[in-house]
Amino acid sequence: MIKSLQDTFTLHNGVKMPGFGLGVYKAADGEEVVNAIKYAVNAGYRAVDTAALYFNEDGVGAAIKQCGLPREELFITTKVWNSDQGYESTLAAFETSRNKLDVDYIDLYLIHWPVKEKYKETWRAMEELYRAGKVRAIGVSNFHQHHIEDLMTTAEIKPMVNQIEMHPVLTQEELRDYCCSQDIVVTAWSPLGRGNLLDEPILGEIAEKHNKSVAQVILRWHIQNDVIVIPKSTHEHRIIENGDIFDFELDAEEMQAINALNENRRFGQNPDSFHFDF
Ligand SMILES: NC(=O)c1ccc[n+]([C@@H]2O[C@H](COP(=O)([O-])OP(=O)(O)OC[C@H]3O[C@@H](n4cnc5c(N)ncnc54)[C@H](OP(=O)(O)O)[C@@H]3O)[C@@H](O)[C@H]2O)c1
Repeated sequence: MIKSLQDTFTLHNGVKMPGFGLGVYKAADGEEVVNAIKYAVNAGYRAVDTAALYFNEDGVGAAIKQCGLPREELFITTKVWNSDQGYESTLAAFETSRNKLDVDYIDLYLIHWPVKEKYKETWRAMEELYRAGKVRAIGVSNFHQHHIEDLMTTAEIKPMVNQIEMHPVLTQEELRDYCCSQDIVVTAWSPLGRGNLLDEPILGEIAEKHNKSVAQVILRWHIQNDVIVIPKSTHEHRIIENGDIFDFELDAEEMQAINALNENRRFGQNPDSFHFDF
């Protein structure tokens, strides 16, 4: 379990990835995303999670330059969007992202969703980017176990990360255990359930007991489950609050009470029924 904002997970290729990062989905390109990343860096965050789909890679690139840290102290994740999947188009999409981010390399490049009949070719391009040293690690997102198993029938390199929706009403224990058995590190997206869980009474009671907010309790539950979290906020006080989770611990009973909130309920799409054609 990570003990600070800058603590890392070691991916199966030896690359160290911070266990806590800032998500920037729906952070507007320009000032909003630049400021959010500056607040996060000042609070001690060292990782940023973006995607071509978020249309803010230019702003993330500007923030990398303006935040005052050397590039190598930051861990930048971006993702290839569905309409760019396929071998050649992924290579081209990578260059577009890299140019927007204005970096020499990307730390982690992910397949955003498992687009049927395409993700294996996409993966071949990811492997090529990895071998060429343009990305330090490659991974997938929104892959169920069956997608990973299918990918591995042709893959030469195993994904280092699987980024999936995960929060107290979607605990994903089976997929988490499977990824762990394969040495694939799990990142939880929408770790706060997009803000939908903040009024949950059980979480409120636990939060009160620890003199913490519900958001802090949820993030603490994630890190005690040994997954990477990437909560999104553009507000400085929330960015600081979300990172301030290393001075308390949930006991086994509290962890169990949060696990018991699981309803297998998604706020995003199910990868098996997602419409990829946009
Ligand atoms: N791979 C994928 O398919 C995928 C899909 C979705 C998301 N993601 C990644 O995961 C990241 C996080 O997921 P998410 O943005 O969907 O949801 P989230 O992080 O679970 O929740 C973000 C929402 O909660 C609010 N919030 C944040 N901290 C708070 C706090 N302490 N108190 C109260 N409200 C708070 C934010 O509002 P304010 O901004 O107004 O503070 C925002 O509305 C994304 O930004 C993205 O990087 C990946």
